[in-house]
Amino acid sequence: MRSKIAGIGYYVPEKVVTNDDLSKVMDTTDEWIQERTGIQQRRYGKKHQETTTTMAAAAARIACERAGIQPEDIDFIVFATLSPDYYFPGCGVLLQRELGITQREAGALDIRNQCSGFVYALSIADQFVRTGTYKNVLVVGSEMHSMGLDFSTRGRNVTVIFGDGAGAAIVQPSDDPNRGILATKLHSDGTYAEKLAFINPGAHGGYHFNKMGEATDFGFPPEDTYGEIFITPRMIETGQYYPNMEGQFVFKLAVQKFPEVIHEALKEAGLQASDINMLIPHQANLRISQFVQKILGLRDDQVWNNIQRYGNTTAASVPIALCEAWEAGKIKEGDLVCLAAFGSGFTWGSALIRW
Ligand code: UT7
Repeated sequence: MRSKIAGIGYYVPEKVVTNDDLSKVMDTTDEWIQERTGIQQRRYGKKHQETTTTMAAAAARIACERAGIQPEDIDFIVFATLSPDYYFPGCGVLLQRELGITQREAGALDIRNQCSGFVYALSIADQFVRTGTYKNVLVVGSEMHSMGLDFSTRGRNVTVIFGDGAGAAIVQPSDDPNRGILATKLHSDGTYAEKLAFINPGAHGGYHFNKMGEATDFGFPPEDTYGEIFITPRMIETGQYYPNMEGQFVFKLAVQKFPEVIHEALKEAGLQASDINMLIPHQANLRISQFVQKILGLRDDQVWNNIQRYGNTTAASVPIALCEAWEAGKIKEGDLVCLAAFGSGFTWGSALIRW
């Protein structure tokens, strides 16, 4: 049995933040951001009104409607995010409550795989559906980055890149054995975990677990004691509670791993890059997408890019792009769609779908 995406939806908040808006609060320029990333603007959620969960619910309702089901029909939730409403519990249960479907007591799973979160989540849904365990799995990627970014110049290399949004899909059994999810490939390599990370607050207790011998100051003086090391005044003072990224390091690995994992899925499905009708790459950087497009020999109209309008929405970027491409009529029945992502962890993955 195969699984298929039966319905898909996305939600982005109304508030548009341009590069010029950011240049008013930090030392950056529209020119730098566009040249290095392709980003022109991003969306930010409404403070005190919208959260990662509420945006996910908006996307999920659309996905349900398009799949011809009610939220109550959902058998299982897989929620990918790096910007959860709470440290715990995860957004899966919050989404269940937000959708008003707690009476079913359906399981909810949270995925912490950052940019590749949606591809991982989709793969999990695929396994559950193919084994006949569940019929309607809700897969969501949602991010409210704007609440946790450093808007001073110190954070500019990260902050200008990220935006808010959510995407969702309903995964169901496919009645046609030739259509649906053909292959998913998932990988990780924790060697460079700290190269793109949000380390504090955390339970690491100041222990330096980076095995590369690089000194990392997590903001914990040795005299700190149990109960005081999760989040410390020094951490706040030095701003060590924001995401950090070594951009060039990440970039170099991304352009290597994207084509690798796409070819791996193609090989399993007995297909070639030239068979792809639409590539939906994680929207990390327009230059990365263009590089991958070139390696695969795809035309401009075979790759969906929307980073210009939304920035990098991490776990939400693949489903938002997929949904936009579908809504624009660029994905038709029978088309071969390839999803691919790479990011923090490092984790990466791909999915091949016969639509
Ligand atoms: O989605 C998760 C996966 N993430 C990725 O795949 C991201 C991969 N990496 C990238 O996309 C790029 O590395 C970035 C867009 C993050 C950065 O572009 P870059 O061309 O690699 O720039 P850089 O980090 O090497 O920085 C170049 C210069 C530095 O100044 P100096 O040291 O040359 O004087 C930075 O301080 O640009 C400076 N800079 C900025 N200047 C203006 C960094 N951020 C900014 C900024 N505005 N926002």
